[in-house]
Amino acid sequence: MENLNFISLLLLSLIAISHASLSDNAYLSLGKSNFPSVQAEKLIRELNLFPNSEVNVIDGGDDGVSFIDQAGYNKRIVERKFRFPNVVGDEEESFTVDDLGNHAGYYKIENSHDARMFYFFFESRTSKKDPVVIWLTGGPGCSSELAMFYENGPYTIANNLSLVRNKYGWDKVSNLLYVDQPTGTGYSYSTDRRDIRHNEEGVSNDLYDFLQAFFKEHPELAKNDFYITGESYAGHYIPAFAARVHRGNKAKEGIHINLKGFAIGNGLTDPAIQYKAYTDYALDMGIIKQAEHDRISKIVPVCEMAIKLCGTDGTVSCMASYLVCSTIFNSIISVAGNINYYDIRKNCEGSLCYDFSNMEKFLGQKSVKEALGVGDIDFVSCSPTVYQAMLMDWMRNLEVGIPALLEDGIKLLVYAGEYDLICNWLGNSRWVHAMEWPGQKAFVASPEVPFEVSGSEAGVLKSYGPLAFLKVHDAGHMVPMDQPEASLEMLKRWTRGTLSEATEEPQQLVAEI
Ligand SMILES: *[C@@H]1O[C@H](CO)[C@@H](O)[C@H](O)[C@H]1NC(C)=O
Repeated sequence: MENLNFISLLLLSLIAISHASLSDNAYLSLGKSNFPSVQAEKLIRELNLFPNSEVNVIDGGDDGVSFIDQAGYNKRIVERKFRFPNVVGDEEESFTVDDLGNHAGYYKIENSHDARMFYFFFESRTSKKDPVVIWLTGGPGCSSELAMFYENGPYTIANNLSLVRNKYGWDKVSNLLYVDQPTGTGYSYSTDRRDIRHNEEGVSNDLYDFLQAFFKEHPELAKNDFYITGESYAGHYIPAFAARVHRGNKAKEGIHINLKGFAIGNGLTDPAIQYKAYTDYALDMGIIKQAEHDRISKIVPVCEMAIKLCGTDGTVSCMASYLVCSTIFNSIISVAGNINYYDIRKNCEGSLCYDFSNMEKFLGQKSVKEALGVGDIDFVSCSPTVYQAMLMDWMRNLEVGIPALLEDGIKLLVYAGEYDLICNWLGNSRWVHAMEWPGQKAFVASPEVPFEVSGSEAGVLKSYGPLAFLKVHDAGHMVPMDQPEASLEMLKRWTRGTLSEATEEPQQLVAEI
């Protein structure tokens, strides 16, 4: 069996190369740049991140236990309320730590060898009854603090490393959780390498255990509505996690979790459809020309075949499909030059597409670590080890579990900033439309309506029943960073069930009159 897989890998690679070299070898080569270690490295450097270690696995060596004892890691580190140092603004100081409602901590993951998952929890600034919303950043292997500080968290980081309140933080309408996962990412760690995850089964089980621990500590929040959100590679995590929660609820496994919906922002969910869409999106947006489109598109059938093989056996052929399909994306990038593939309106300066280095600087400070209670644990902003460990998962189709959730009335919102290439709106729109569920026909036939925020069109919305698709204007991969007000409105209306109403919330109209 292993041999067969290896042969299929070779075969696919050869086919891809021969397709490519039919015309122009320079644009299409299954070269070094497709390799996972190179890709992981690139991802991290482009964000100007320099994690000190590749993964948070704390090795005790021969004397593991005493090392752990000495450092105090084996004690159950419980949640604590905290206050960030250096927050700008008088109001901040007038609050007690209790009033602030900022929590950070670790939960030991029940069904793991020794994994401890780190999280931030911010109580809603409006009401304890607001829904509980969990955010997951992608990568795979990037910390959710990226979104917390640069997208939708309660604070943003100023250049002098003080924190400034975010007017559009999602904590305005929700009790907001950020989790560092899979284990090894951010401040989350284990003393046992076997806790590194390789697929969505492992990821979703850990997240389920995390939630159980969270609601055990906050039983008063367990009756609130619960929503799963996130971005990018979380397009894999989110459907798997939602299905896991739903399964746990049905089996009465633990504390019932009041799952109402899940939202995927510029995600990777159905790779076969989304990789095929790359060349079409790039052509539509003028990044590549017709001749380049046609040439690069020759790889598509090979990529589709590879993904199909991955779907049925799920081992070496998944690696093969990653290598083959990456050729499509990398070929577009080599034509497009130093384009920022998270936002095609922008260029990457040198190798730098975004500069998120302040996050590492901020979280590396002694005073911050003390406030959070993370001890000596390093902050691993993005982990190349976690990234590479998930490669077999990359080309898996996570759309397949969604129809069952929709049928049970759990809402799905797929949204996408229109200028993102890597998880572009076109590929997302296509899989959402192609998804077979009882409401498919009605969804496809539904009109597109403007999504208006503060009197102007912030996006285009299509929805039917529990399913909604929103294309967000003037935004790249990170919608809440580019369109903070619109993204907060989106979350608010979606969780309140008013997303598809033609007009804005009545109270706002009244205020305007
Ligand atoms: C740091 O930057 C913030 C935001 O620009 C500003 O309000 C604050 O006064 C600055 N703090 C210091 C100590 O310079």
